[in-house]
Amino acid sequence: MPKIKVLLVAAELNPLAKVGGLADVIGALPKALLKLGVDVRLVIPKYGIVDEKKYPLKKVAENVIVPFNGVDEKVNIFETPLPGSEVPVYLIDHLKYLGRNGVYFETDASPGGSDQEAKRFTFLARSSLTILETLNWYPDIIHCHDWHVGMIPVLVKILAKKNGKLKNLKTLLTIHNLEYQGSYKTKTIFKALNISKKDYPTLSKQHKGQINSLQQAILTCDYLNTVSPAYAKEILTSEYGAGLETTLQQRADDLVGILNGIDVERFNPVTDKNIIANYASDDISGKKQCKNDLQKTCNLPIQENIPILGIVSRLADQKGIDLIYEITDDLAKKNMQFILLGTGDPKLEKMISQVAKKYPEKMYAKIEFDATFAQKIYAGSDLFLMPSRFEPCGLGQMIAMRYGTIPIVRATGGLKDTVMDYDEHTDTGDGFVFKHYNNQEFLGAIKRALKLYKNKEKWYKVIKSVMQKDFSWNTSAKKYKKLYSKLIK
Ligand code: GLC
Repeated sequence: MPKIKVLLVAAELNPLAKVGGLADVIGALPKALLKLGVDVRLVIPKYGIVDEKKYPLKKVAENVIVPFNGVDEKVNIFETPLPGSEVPVYLIDHLKYLGRNGVYFETDASPGGSDQEAKRFTFLARSSLTILETLNWYPDIIHCHDWHVGMIPVLVKILAKKNGKLKNLKTLLTIHNLEYQGSYKTKTIFKALNISKKDYPTLSKQHKGQINSLQQAILTCDYLNTVSPAYAKEILTSEYGAGLETTLQQRADDLVGILNGIDVERFNPVTDKNIIANYASDDISGKKQCKNDLQKTCNLPIQENIPILGIVSRLADQKGIDLIYEITDDLAKKNMQFILLGTGDPKLEKMISQVAKKYPEKMYAKIEFDATFAQKIYAGSDLFLMPSRFEPCGLGQMIAMRYGTIPIVRATGGLKDTVMDYDEHTDTGDGFVFKHYNNQEFLGAIKRALKLYKNKEKWYKVIKSVMQKDFSWNTSAKKYKKLYSKLIK
């Protein structure tokens, strides 16, 4: 059987251009797909932040014409292997639309509704289709990730009317986060892509003069999935559907949830060079040294028996940062230390910095992006907090477990699918789960966790068992491969 050819197009890619969990997935899934014999390749923009000293880029094509906004724009194509693998990554080079700034023009991953962002990502969609001819490589499937490339499925349908090579091309949409949708002025998008209502039926569904990129993708793609089974069900409801529940219900038969994995080579306490001591599930003595090192780094009292509650998170409403803020006074009364790392919403950044200043003996916050420090928190903490309002999958809880750090999570989306609540009668479970989004239930889960922490024998048993869980991409990549095969049949 010939290999299945798949092109992943996305706005983020770890380690070249990382903002959030999207980058981690795009950086890890293709490696696992390649091992399964898929001819997988990637397209991302050549942003100004891509470090060319670290990642040698080879120019493979020059002055490729991309019709856009009424002009024949010219792009160059660069290529580099995805670090740690042979997966080819193509970077589209166009200074005006793709090269300036980081990934987003706004402070976090939310679409800002700005004209420059609308143009950046529609340009990415348009040019990633144009370069296929230049590369002389047409995939069987374009695997589109999130709203940024939401116009690809639409464009494939429209352009296939004239370009026979696009006729059998299928599109798969993966929704990593329904909250971000990319709504832009219809006029801007129509002009940029030289399309109109007549070109495709769903284009008439835009409302109030706006085109919603994610909605267009949902309506037009051949198949879609989200990043956990629980979230795939939740998004059909008004509570989690972010206004797109009715659109999603129309496609419910073509919607599945496939749980993300994590890069188990990168996140491995046995080999991680970012932490002071390595350890494995059969001997976790190194974890104590990591805890000691973490307390030192954060200027907190160095004591082995004070439980550390860690957080590594984008500071966004989604992540339940307000809930964390609400319980800080209660937390401060307990025998514990609290350490947070993250950036994002300036309002939340300020709130968190203020409480850390209020309790310097107990709390520490670093409002930065710092991948090394993140590893120190995963390894050195005892508990990891993720009280998310909603969570498509969540990677932090899986990384924490791999480092023997017990998660405290809200039962939503991927958190629900990956963390089984600890039951003190049967002595089973991975962590502490609470149901409703309120501080009482959250505190309740923390109390249960702190109680178990005192029983060292039971505590170590849970650590051992979570460290042995399989969070590798193997299982999920097999599911994607199966889905690809189904799509091209
Ligand atoms: C988004 C989601 C997160 C998910 C990640 C990768 O960041 O918020 O839950 O894990 O994408 O799919």
